[in-house]
Amino acid sequence: MGEELPKRDEWAIQCMERQLVVMDDLADRAAGTAAWLALERQANSYARHLGTWLAKETIFPGARGQMATHQAALAGYAHRAQEQVAGVDAEELEAARAGLGIRLAVIGKGGAGKTVTSSTLARLFAQAGRKVLACDLDVNPGLAVSLGMQGDQGGMPEGSIEEHPGSIYGWQLTGDMTPIQVVEKFASAAPDGVRFLGFGKIGPASEGGGTDKSAAKQSVAALVHLMLGIGEPDWDVIADLEAGPTTPFERYHAFSEDVVVVVGPAWRSAMTARRLLPMVEGRRSLIIANRFRDEPDHPGLAARFRIPFDPELAEVERQGLAPLDACPDSPAIVALRQLAALYLNQEVPV
Ligand SMILES: Nc1ncnc2c1ncn2[C@@H]1O[C@H](COP(=O)(O)OP(=O)(O)OP(=O)(O)O)[C@@H](O)[C@H]1O
Ligand SMILES: [Mg+2]
Repeated sequence: MGEELPKRDEWAIQCMERQLVVMDDLADRAAGTAAWLALERQANSYARHLGTWLAKETIFPGARGQMATHQAALAGYAHRAQEQVAGVDAEELEAARAGLGIRLAVIGKGGAGKTVTSSTLARLFAQAGRKVLACDLDVNPGLAVSLGMQGDQGGMPEGSIEEHPGSIYGWQLTGDMTPIQVVEKFASAAPDGVRFLGFGKIGPASEGGGTDKSAAKQSVAALVHLMLGIGEPDWDVIADLEAGPTTPFERYHAFSEDVVVVVGPAWRSAMTARRLLPMVEGRRSLIIANRFRDEPDHPGLAARFRIPFDPELAEVERQGLAPLDACPDSPAIVALRQLAALYLNQEVPV
């Protein structure tokens, strides 16, 4: 009789099985160059994340055989997609690739300006006619308010998550739907048609002195896997990560192709950015200097884009308003419009 697998290995195997469901769904619906390129990208994205598991001997030892098989299966999907676009001319291929949905993680030190950057970009992408999912991966939520939503501080809605003892904190994304189906069914509506999902917050201290962490904990694995599992060619996904290196270390940005590192003028903001950059290696990273007045760039952290210090923005944020609505022409928002255009036109400085 074979030994029973530890629950966490069982969970890892189930995650891989679910990835194949996503791949099959994308393959079944694939029609046209963009769809096949998106499928190839999704296979590579899953494979890259798998690589971070495989790189650590200690993670999921009972699932390593299945991981190798899974790696080969993903390579098979990528190969199939490449065959489908083999006859397409280079220019058309490039145009289709450039039009694929953006996968952007916004990281940086606390208070650097991650939330205002994420929310404003999400809405500007949506205003440009794109389908956008904005995710708040911070247990001190703020993205919903910055998007201009009324409240919505909840975690993943009931029905979108389920228990699994092997998953982090014991909960995971429901297996009844694919990630994009979960988005379509459960994501909240934000202004300009942006769809929103979040961890939910850690509740206020109760009388007994404890706090309710359940919504946030139950949402973590689900939301990270949901974002990683969105392979649609025509959806942009933007995530506002919790400040500092812990969440990138935990690979909350696994879904991303692009990373924005927001850096403020403070020395410690630069120190955080320096620690973050190696964690997001392999992605296209853009360092943004935010809130600088006349301060020089930090040594070794030349910013490729600048958002000026903007007292009007700070004031509307203090009032809990969405900057894009409340100060649409203030200097920081003007800069963020330029940044959105760079992403939309594939002109991101690298
Ligand atoms: N360019 C700017 N000029 C002036 N104030 C700014 C600018 N960018 C952000 N702020 C202000 O700095 C504060 C922090 O911004 P924001 O919430 O976007 O940062 P954050 O990185 O998400 O912070 P946290 O780590 O706490 O989530 C807010 O009060 C915001 O209004
Ligand atoms: Mg924030």
